[in-house]
Amino acid sequence: MVGRQQAAGGSRWRGDGGAAAAWWWWWVAVVLGHLVASARAGLLETNPGLAYNFYQKSCPSVDSIVRSVTWAQVAANSTLPARLLRLHFHDCFVKGCDASILLDNAQSEKTAGPNLSVGGYEVIDAIKAQLEQACPGVVSCADILALAARDAVSYQFKASLWQVETGRRDGTVSLASNTGALPSPFAGFAGILQSFQNRGLNLTDLVALSGAHTIGVASCSSVTPRLYQGNATNVDPLLDAAYAKTLMSSCPSSSSSGTVNLDGGTAAKFDSRYFTNVLNKQGTLASDAALTQNAAAAQMVQDLTNPIKFYAAFSMSMKKMGRVEVLTGTSGQIRKQCRQVNSS
Ligand code: HEM
Repeated sequence: MVGRQQAAGGSRWRGDGGAAAAWWWWWVAVVLGHLVASARAGLLETNPGLAYNFYQKSCPSVDSIVRSVTWAQVAANSTLPARLLRLHFHDCFVKGCDASILLDNAQSEKTAGPNLSVGGYEVIDAIKAQLEQACPGVVSCADILALAARDAVSYQFKASLWQVETGRRDGTVSLASNTGALPSPFAGFAGILQSFQNRGLNLTDLVALSGAHTIGVASCSSVTPRLYQGNATNVDPLLDAAYAKTLMSSCPSSSSSGTVNLDGGTAAKFDSRYFTNVLNKQGTLASDAALTQNAAAAQMVQDLTNPIKFYAAFSMSMKKMGRVEVLTGTSGQIRKQCRQVNSS
């Protein structure tokens, strides 16, 4: 577009050299500024080919269909916001946001240890079924995951908490052996930050996105190493003693099979309470407590106790996470069914 304008307006430019030069330098400054900002902030700051309203012409009802199915299911099952949010995260961290986590092939991602407690698949199936009726073969399963996560969390507010870019396409490979990219709750601060950096995400994203642990549950097995060593009580020094007792009452031994709320204060609410918990040594996972072990992270934890700051930071980092290694253009495919790759 710019090139065509320059060619057509050549004579006018010759007659107005000063304005043309000014325009040229302005253009160079804009492009350079953008490049410098992108390089400084990392690749995910630049749009990888996604767009707001990607389906505006091809499937205008996508937003309303995803929201109505998700909200109806969340109204009937309050565990779903946490499940769908985690599902999108576990999709994006393994081979990018390409819906590889949904595939049902042998030794697929969902069979891997960290994904055994992941759920919400049936909600995605229900959304996909309706979308295939409205606009067959158009909306990717990867986009459905991103939209459903947003809508499930937003149900509480009856308004969208963040904007979702769309235009992702679906991958064709799902291997349990790739799930090592997911952060372990026991990896320590450096290990967890590294797994975010490996995906192009930074310290700010790590702290903001950890706020997802303001909803949902953890299996006792994710927590008991902080409470026991074998049969003996052995409480993690980063854990508040009274809160450790609360966790122990839900997980009475190192082999307990129950669950505990990730946010011991306001488990059902998507709020900034998680950060207050972490500051008070009441973060449930070792990875939550690890955020206090780095000065910059601890300062961010303090900042994000402010709900307005948390929602803003979470929205920005969700957008970045939603861009991780996405397939766009003609890469990948638009699956007809989210659990299997297209046969032809
Ligand atoms: C910072 C690194 C992270 C680690 C080490 C981590 C680890 C975990 C673990 C161990 C659980 C409990 C699983 C179980 O025991 O069944 C969990 C639950 C959860 N995680 Fe994370 N997580 C991290 C980041 C994230 C991010 C970035 C999100 C989303 C943006 C997220 C969303 C959730 C949610 C919502 C749950 C509760 C799921 C449910 O109730 O079904 N986590 N996480």
